[in-house]
Amino acid sequence: MTQENNVLITGANGEVGHGLIAHLSRDAQLTIVATDIQPLDPALHAIPLTFVQGDILDPTLLKQLFEGRAYKTIFHLASILSTKGERSPELAFRVNVDGTFALLMRAVQQAREAQRMTKFLYPSSIAAYGLPDADTKREAGRVEEDAWCFPATMYGCNKLACESLGTYFARHYRRLDEPRSSYGLDFRSVRFPGLISAQTVPTGGTSDYGPEMLHHAAQGLSYDCFVREDACLPFMVMPDAIRALLLLEAAPRERLARLVYNVSSFSLSAGEIHRLTLKAFPSAVVRFIPDVNRQGIVDSWPCDVDDTAARRDWGWHPEYDRRRAFDDYLIPAIRERYRASAG
Ligand code: SER
Repeated sequence: MTQENNVLITGANGEVGHGLIAHLSRDAQLTIVATDIQPLDPALHAIPLTFVQGDILDPTLLKQLFEGRAYKTIFHLASILSTKGERSPELAFRVNVDGTFALLMRAVQQAREAQRMTKFLYPSSIAAYGLPDADTKREAGRVEEDAWCFPATMYGCNKLACESLGTYFARHYRRLDEPRSSYGLDFRSVRFPGLISAQTVPTGGTSDYGPEMLHHAAQGLSYDCFVREDACLPFMVMPDAIRALLLLEAAPRERLARLVYNVSSFSLSAGEIHRLTLKAFPSAVVRFIPDVNRQGIVDSWPCDVDDTAARRDWGWHPEYDRRRAFDDYLIPAIRERYRASAG
């Protein structure tokens, strides 16, 4: 059972899954095992990988994934996002927390059997923060990792809980054993801002108005934006999100002073996203019809995060500021995507 070149990706069909699988598949040395509750997206069919369909809560799936295989890195991306989580809190808790716990247990067991460390990369979120209102959010400015960790959504509670669980597995798991095993999980997490991809549109998130506005405009569809024009969030484009995960994965353990890091690229209000969308698609029709409850979730998330620790410890810096994000990545790639699908 070798783990040198095996990576496991859960939530393969999701936004980050698509980007990560496409990126990792360029490394011919890697063996990718991917899983999702749905059949593999046809867009990923051309990529050489082993796909196992199943529910992260199903012990049979975990058995299948780990039978005869060990992984050097697990990217645990499967998750229910914030809006869907508010509508189905029990499901969100089960998938996001129970699912993560089951995978952490299986991963630590594998690490101990193989007498190796297993890296466990976990995308957390700005939803781990919870500011009480829009005024406090304005005053808070760039929020550091340890401030305002009072999540106001089920998804945010789940993310914060799993950050703690991962940290526990990495630092304290079976701390009373004598002797204590020196092998286990090397847990690393980034708190992502709202992600925007040119290839996929997210489902069930609250920061989705950003990507949805653009993707609708590119298809000539009108869009009703569910937050106010002045609603501000940090955003990041998918290539930077993938880079962040891979830079953190590659960082030497001894350089990491924390296990959970903020990463940021640029912050935008919904009104600014609208203006950038109009610049590229002048006939775009966007109406602002705020939903007070979804707006409340955005008001509880910071407009900007302090990513000094990530820059210092593992050399994080975004390659896409807001200008490059729109001019060099989003607009050309989204145009191409819908031109290709129309043709
Ligand atoms: N994009 C996520 C959501 O909106 C937050 O990280 O749920």
